[in-house]
Amino acid sequence: MDRVLYPGSFDPVTNGHMNIIERCAAKFDEVIVAVAVNLEKEALFTVEERVELLRESCAALKNVKADHFTGLLVDYARAQGANLIVKGLRAVSDFEFELQMALMNRRLAPNLDTIFMMTDGEYSFLSSSIVQEVARHGGSVTNLVPPIVEERLRQKLSAGC
Ligand code: PNS
Repeated sequence: MDRVLYPGSFDPVTNGHMNIIERCAAKFDEVIVAVAVNLEKEALFTVEERVELLRESCAALKNVKADHFTGLLVDYARAQGANLIVKGLRAVSDFEFELQMALMNRRLAPNLDTIFMMTDGEYSFLSSSIVQEVARHGGSVTNLVPPIVEERLRQKLSAGC
């Protein structure tokens, strides 16, 4: 049985992330989408909000669960009994850092493989930070994020965050 772990910041989840999650849900038995708690990185949404947005966005995918973790990804993967880490790649520019992380994770946990999925071309330009920036300046992010995320972005930004 394959239980795969898809980690990230998800601040917030975009349709690029959803594309990877849906494809993983169709290919693997169980998918855990995990928000990494990174106290050094300033975030728009709290960890709880990001997990909740993932839960709502993935509600129709019955073999997908959303969670968060602190500390090392490999320790969380071991605790969850995950046997694969999945990462999305948008462009060559993602590759160098992802390679570094994959090799370090492999060194820390030799039995845990990282596999990469190419994000669909239509999302290759998309990132959580560009979504935040467009929304912050009043631009439309329709069809770039799940509808619930669009709504929460509007609420959060109108509250002056
Ligand atoms: O969405 P992001 O910010 O690109 O995701 C990066 C993430 C969360 C996958 C990465 O920073 C991570 O795995 N953090 C957990 C801490 C850890 O294990 N660090 C060592 C990885 S080599």
